[in-house]
Amino acid sequence: MKEYQKNYEYFTNWFRSPRTRYRSSYKKSQLNPKLFCFGSNNNPGILEITNGYLVGKMNDREAILNFAKTNNIELTIIGPEAPLQAGVADLLWHNNIPCVGPKKLPAQLETSKSFTRDLFEEFNIPGGAKHKNFTSLTGTKEFLNELGEGNYVVKADGLMGGKGVKVAGDHLKNINEALTYCEELISQNSNFVIEEKFIGQEFSLMSFCDGENLAHMPVVQDHKRAYDGDQGPNTGGMGTYSDANHSLPFLTTKDIEQAQEINLQTAQALHKKFNEGYKGILYGGFIATKNGVNVIEYNARLGDPEAMNVLSILESDFVELCLAIINGNLTSAHAKFSPQATVCKYAVPEGYPDSPIKNEKIDISEVGNKDQIYFASVDKKEDGLYEIGSRTIAVIGIADTIAEAEKIAEAEIKKIKGPLFHRSDIGTKKLINSRIEMMKNLRT
Ligand code: AMP
Ligand code: GLY
Repeated sequence: MKEYQKNYEYFTNWFRSPRTRYRSSYKKSQLNPKLFCFGSNNNPGILEITNGYLVGKMNDREAILNFAKTNNIELTIIGPEAPLQAGVADLLWHNNIPCVGPKKLPAQLETSKSFTRDLFEEFNIPGGAKHKNFTSLTGTKEFLNELGEGNYVVKADGLMGGKGVKVAGDHLKNINEALTYCEELISQNSNFVIEEKFIGQEFSLMSFCDGENLAHMPVVQDHKRAYDGDQGPNTGGMGTYSDANHSLPFLTTKDIEQAQEINLQTAQALHKKFNEGYKGILYGGFIATKNGVNVIEYNARLGDPEAMNVLSILESDFVELCLAIINGNLTSAHAKFSPQATVCKYAVPEGYPDSPIKNEKIDISEVGNKDQIYFASVDKKEDGLYEIGSRTIAVIGIADTIAEAEKIAEAEIKKIKGPLFHRSDIGTKKLINSRIEMMKNLRT
């Protein structure tokens, strides 16, 4: 295969996902890449570092291809899931433009819940869930009863921005409510999956994958609920932390080994199923339970905010890492991370996620170290920066311990001015101790 090692012109494609978070990784690369972005809005952080920037629709395959061709792009990276689902990677490869990010069929790992659950069954991958896929109400009541009151999860089968999942005891009080939700999904023409509910602590393990080989990233814990104390509605993720030993305080070495093995077997299964290796990022959303590690979901991209935790401490050359993915010679030596803890917190608009206020001005002039902040749903206009209705700015703290990293992130995020809020409990001793306690109780 041709070695893609010439000009390193980059064309990245972010929308909901990594946005500016590769910024420092690109800046650090010895290979001095030129960077181009096709994005959904004028992200000020990315604008600052790109040689070209085009705003368009994330699933507009032809516009993306034209932009790549016009700028003689030699390597592309897809950030969000919408272009993965639209088959942008297929089109780029077809035009001899290599791409980090899976093609449409393997990207079903993220875009279809039933695909992933079935894949686990078909290839006997450990960590799956007892489940059934439904296209009508027939058999739903029986299967809910079989799983038992309080032990089920109903998932719309498609990209729902984190909003299609309802969990027993959390969003669904009883089987009747679960059936009502199933009816609602059918009336919206949505297929769905009913699966067993797991109890434990969730964590994310992302692995770079060249089709054959994996290089794992440090594990991270996300916080889905909007408010302190894990209260309120589910969100895209309000903040994340990782520890200096690249594990998490409530996980065992065995948990991590199991998760790594599941990511590996998933990559192997995809290769067998589609006769072609998966090139991109395998993001396993796991849960440590009293019986070991299970899979909650897969994403086919970097996590948001998880990417900011791990890429901020990546010591290896990110461009070389991407080339290894493209060229199929990835080893763990391509992905070395420094032994530091990280805490990332998102400032989000008031009312987020259900009715966020939109198009309000924000001010970051008081933030000390601008390298610590990452813009997400922010637009740059002539008279300044505006939040545009979703997760707005992430702040990362990096230190020897989680507690120190938390203090750094908290101090900086408070300096962002605007009608925004954040979770002040992420990364605090109190919250982490409650997680440790929960796992201790479960395991004994
Ligand atoms: P998902 O979109 O599949 O990540 O689901 C969103 C959230 O629902 C997850 O972060 C979990 O908190 C919860 N969830 C999903 N599936 C399960 C399951 N099988 N058992 C327990 N919780 C789940
Ligand atoms: N942090 C969850 C996600 O990226 O989907």
